[in-house]
Amino acid sequence: MSSPTKPINVIVIGAGFAGLSTAISCHRAGLNVTIYERAPALQPLGDIISFGRNAGLIFARWDRALVDEMLPLSIDLRHHGFRIHKYTGEHVTTQHSVPRDMEAPTINGHRGELHLVLVRYVTERLGVELRLGCEVVSCFEGTPDGEGRAGIELASGEKVYGDVVIGCDGVHSKARELVLGHETKLQSSGYAIFRAWFDNKDIIADPLTRHLCENGDTFNGWIGPDVHFLVSSLKGGKDVCWVLTHKDDSNITDRWSFPGKLADVYKIFEGWDPICRRIVSKTPEDSLIDWKLIWQDPLPTWVSKGGHIALAGDSAHAFLPTSTQGATQALEDGVTIATCLKWAGRERIPEALRAFEKIRYDRVCKVQETGKTTRERWHKASWDEVERNPKSLELPREDWILGHDAEGHAEEMCERIFGDRSGNMRGESKI
Ligand SMILES: Cc1cc2nc3c(=O)[nH]c(=O)nc-3n(C[C@H](O)[C@H](O)[C@H](O)COP(=O)(O)OP(=O)(O)OC[C@H]3O[C@@H](n4cnc5c(N)ncnc54)[C@H](O)[C@@H]3O)c2cc1C
Ligand SMILES: *[C@@H]1O[C@H](CO)[C@@H](O)[C@H](O)[C@H]1NC(C)=O
Ligand SMILES: *[C@@H]1O[C@H](CO)[C@@H](O)[C@H](O)[C@H]1NC(C)=O
Repeated sequence: MSSPTKPINVIVIGAGFAGLSTAISCHRAGLNVTIYERAPALQPLGDIISFGRNAGLIFARWDRALVDEMLPLSIDLRHHGFRIHKYTGEHVTTQHSVPRDMEAPTINGHRGELHLVLVRYVTERLGVELRLGCEVVSCFEGTPDGEGRAGIELASGEKVYGDVVIGCDGVHSKARELVLGHETKLQSSGYAIFRAWFDNKDIIADPLTRHLCENGDTFNGWIGPDVHFLVSSLKGGKDVCWVLTHKDDSNITDRWSFPGKLADVYKIFEGWDPICRRIVSKTPEDSLIDWKLIWQDPLPTWVSKGGHIALAGDSAHAFLPTSTQGATQALEDGVTIATCLKWAGRERIPEALRAFEKIRYDRVCKVQETGKTTRERWHKASWDEVERNPKSLELPREDWILGHDAEGHAEEMCERIFGDRSGNMRGESKI
């Protein structure tokens, strides 16, 4: 039934960044992987998303051509840096960009555009099967017929069997309750974001805002009590996007994205630098989104009882945007899962998934917390202190986060966990 050369059949639920990373990494490790995605077609949805250097390292290792394709879509701040202002308008400090590292570039760009680069890579370059329009309604493990050790059921009624199921189905995950055996409650983080993305036409036409786009990419922030406003221009100043994070006590957790109203944004700007209102006034109202920030305390586990189903990405852990690491940590999950499966082999799937959780859990929780600490540092800034130490408002660039090599680390850990027992990868005997 289980010849040692049979590849591990991996079922991935969801084609977000967690699912794509899991699929690419499993494919590279010689596993047989298929992705099941609910959306009938993948459109370039969303707006700004951040990938830290620790994600750039992963992309570059997969394929330098990916980096070549992504960098022109990414904000380039080598000339501008990040200019930070007090909400009343005073310039506080400019955080300079680190020199570009082609082995581990930072990539900040449009989520949909970057996502489609990866989707094309997965389907066209690697030939991994991505099945669209496949909503997973349940997953299970321990199939009695021996056809597989875990599987999923689609809305169509079709059942698919494999050796392992990875639930990469986002913050409103279905896989999560199946893994934990009960429903979990999402919480409101107490904050929401107004966000928008549009072309530079009206910004360029106004002499007061033209500087944001006319000489290439820019990034400016205004920090106020319990609010921050970030504005960037990208692709040589051609596109503009902004996000405004503010308190929101509506407690909505079932959906995150609603159409926004400009009038509600203007209310927040009372007493603010008039340029903020001016920038927002260029926003086509139909591009404005009211995005509720959902939080979830760390789950007790990401792995099912039987050890054949695991969660990755947002379904396992929610990130606040101020961590700027949500998508990057989703990539690190996928890389780690594939490394663990490769080392453990087909006969030790539960051990592989438990190793994945062990390798990732503490790091993820620590990075998650930085979303709160950065927000609080901005929102609760004491302006006397900021005057003495303007750099305290800079975005933290911590080496333990950004300098991390997820694959290298997973290889090292797996060698310790699995190396002495199997001495080889993919469960083949070396004798
Ligand atoms: C449409 C969309 C727009 C977004 N826009 C932004 C943005 O502008 N900026 C930002 O920072 N973050 C955005 N995010 C969130 C961001 O992509 C994630 O926080 C992060 O990248 C982690 O990715 P993930 O793969 O874990 O989850 P997600 O990116 O949420 O991906 C989950 C995937 O699973 C699919 N899925 C869900 N349930 C099922 C099911 N039952 N069966 C099959 N498939 C299922 C979803 O359709 C989705 O493709 C967006 C997410 C989505 C889905
Ligand atoms: C790979 O996975 C697909 C989809 O689950 C399956 O149809 C195929 O038989 C698998 N290939 C092998 C060699 O197991
Ligand atoms: C949201 O939840 C918080 C804490 O549970 C509560 O204090 C607040 O009143 C709630 N807000 C609304 C609008 O229900």
